Amino acid sequence: MRKKVSIVGAGNVGATAAHWIAAKELADVVLVDVVEGVPQGKALDLLEAMPIEKRDVAIAGSNDYAATANSDIVIITAGIPRKPGMSRDDLLHTNFKIMSDVVQKVVAQSPESILIIVSNPLDAMAQAAYRQSGFNRERVIGMAGVLDSARFRSFIAAELNVSVENVTAFVLGGHGDTMVPLARYSTVAGIPITELIAPARLEELVQRTRDGGAEIVKYLKTGSAYYAPSAAAVEMVEAILKDKKKILPCAAYLNGEYGISGYYIGVPCKLGAAGLEQIIEIKLTPEEDAALKKSAAAVKELCAVIGV
Ligand code: LAC
Repeated sequence: MRKKVSIVGAGNVGATAAHWIAAKELADVVLVDVVEGVPQGKALDLLEAMPIEKRDVAIAGSNDYAATANSDIVIITAGIPRKPGMSRDDLLHTNFKIMSDVVQKVVAQSPESILIIVSNPLDAMAQAAYRQSGFNRERVIGMAGVLDSARFRSFIAAELNVSVENVTAFVLGGHGDTMVPLARYSTVAGIPITELIAPARLEELVQRTRDGGAEIVKYLKTGSAYYAPSAAAVEMVEAILKDKKKILPCAAYLNGEYGISGYYIGVPCKLGAAGLEQIIEIKLTPEEDAALKKSAAAVKELCAVIGV
């Protein structure tokens, strides 16, 4: 039997995630949204592309969560996106309300599922979903680090004129202005980028990574990025469905790892069939550790505001 992935929110991130999943033939897909007709229309359109793409997956759209029953994974993208000038944190109250409603409905239909949270402000929304689902932390994971790292990787690859396949990078911390790109653990074919890019230039790439979301919001004006965010969520889906044991930076609930307890923050995670199978602890320099703690403090502040 094929796996089933449901996606809540048939906007740009949700619909494009459906596209990546179908294109990779990873699972049957259900798109859910409150807007009547949109999930149905987008799902049908995508389904009709499958003979061309030679992919056998079922794709359906619905306004009713019953269609999501018994999903293996549910990606939650629901919420409003940023407009120019807004920070991810400005979305807090609106998206918390939406997240609360969505999680309750998702859990009722798919009590055994793994949740991948994409809505912003990411770390606080992952924490809200974790609290409200009652799931253990293995089954509620936030998508941010894969996206932030992919942005950093693409800037490094362009800077050095090398294949993106040669570039690995880790961005830890919260998905916000306090994110922590780890230059020391970023390499090109195994060579640390600190040996390939001068410090001042590297700092510019790091800053561009921190501002990566805002750079796109500024161009688009009416919404935020969606190709890379959805591709990032689907990399996590693939790691879980194929039990790849892949180490990816994700937002995870920390129980003392990195000296942080009780909050979601971006750290290296091993993803496999059970969801979050392990948090990898790497040695940080005092500066990196301080940056991670600062990031955690920012997440804690948001969580306090919504009481999660
Ligand atoms: C971004 C938004 C989706 O980083 O958080 O583009």
